Amino acid sequence: MRRPLVAGNWKMNGTKASIAQLLGEMKAGAASLQQVEVVVCPPFVYLADVQGALQDTTVLIGSQNICDSAAAGAFTGEVSGEMLQEFGCRYAIVGHSERRALYGESDELVARRFAAARAAGLIPILCVGETLEEREQGITEQVVARQIDAVVALEGIAAFAQAVIAYEPVWAIGTGKTATPQQAQDVHAFIRRRIAERDAGVADGLRILYGGSVKGSNAAELMAMSDIDGGLIGGASLKADEFLAICKAADS
Ligand code: PGA
Repeated sequence: MRRPLVAGNWKMNGTKASIAQLLGEMKAGAASLQQVEVVVCPPFVYLADVQGALQDTTVLIGSQNICDSAAAGAFTGEVSGEMLQEFGCRYAIVGHSERRALYGESDELVARRFAAARAAGLIPILCVGETLEEREQGITEQVVARQIDAVVALEGIAAFAQAVIAYEPVWAIGTGKTATPQQAQDVHAFIRRRIAERDAGVADGLRILYGGSVKGSNAAELMAMSDIDGGLIGGASLKADEFLAICKAADS
């Protein structure tokens, strides 16, 4: 059985005050969750605050990005895996579509970030997904396969035994347009098959999250699909009640 995972990607949102309030509200509700693993991914500058606030809870911390170089040194503006470890991070998101589209991150760079996360003992959450144009062209599977294969080429298939994949159709992110449970399930099943072609055991244990306009009201039907093992949540992770409702849906 794959343990469900719900990760909140706060993106570039929050203030010290709003984060303290959000975590306060979340902590109370998260205590009653049984099975689901809950992660929050704050902006780097708030990691220390979040680490302090979550000390006596089971809520874990992830980063939204990670430097592709494992070593410290002359990498202005970057944050290393070792630093993230020191601030209590367990997970690192790599290859979010906003990073790919707005900051020009290539499949190869994303693969190096994935490798850097593993080198630092962090679990990478590899984001993949097609644009609307690509979906309309009927090349969703090709795009997702290419994004995954770049990581397999660098790190090998065994690396996915300690990794998570998040399928996030770009057209569903922040748009209010969620993929239907069947649309998501189809791509999740494709991803699992793609991994299984190389290693069936790794594919079976791999958690594949869905992301893109997940809310409290649509989470249950998504989480009910056999290859959806949780969610990567943007907007709704900034509201404690919405985020907890999603966690509960994944918990049952
Ligand atoms: P959304 O974002 O939930 O706001 O659509 C998801 C994501 O970008 O990870």
